[in-house]
Amino acid sequence: VNTSKDHPLWQLIRTVPDFPKPGIDFYDITPLLRSHVDELIDALLDALPEGLMDEVDCLGAVEARGFVFASLLAGRLGKGMILLRKPGKLPPPVANKSYALEYGKDTLEMQNNLPPERVLLVDDILATGGTLNTAHTLCHSAEHTVVGVLVLLDLIDLHEPLPVPVYSVLQA
Ligand code: PRP
Repeated sequence: VNTSKDHPLWQLIRTVPDFPKPGIDFYDITPLLRSHVDELIDALLDALPEGLMDEVDCLGAVEARGFVFASLLAGRLGKGMILLRKPGKLPPPVANKSYALEYGKDTLEMQNNLPPERVLLVDDILATGGTLNTAHTLCHSAEHTVVGVLVLLDLIDLHEPLPVPVYSVLQA
């Protein structure tokens, strides 16, 4: 794991201390989205092992910033997406799962009437792993096969190993 800040995309991520809560460092990816979308997508695809996308039927997009990344990747690759959303947004039938946050809890929902597919989960950041572990559980319960997760930034010290491979462009 390379936690150095050498990668050029680090220049386009702003770290905002104490946002949205005291003690939290917020990684602001909006400069990257504003002007470096092609580089972002190139870097995400470069983080994947050769040939992996041949095994993937669709991208599992995690609300909200994961929607942006997965949409851009889907467009580049000609793949489709399934959505993992905040509760109450997707029409039934849905399955949901709650997970603990540092303060409080959050919930993800997914439609569970879709044919089983091989899914690559996509999000911007892996922090405690609560979000992507929950996305993985929901996919697994709906009989999808999760081949891995792809994130821009993996905060490696904040989470235990995930049950599937994690592919990331940046590590801190
Ligand atoms: C952020 C980020 C990931 C998640 C990572 O989303 O986009 O989805 O947190 O944290 P975790 O690994 O500790 O779960 P957030 O909940 O802020 O929602 P948003 O993308 O809708 O802004």
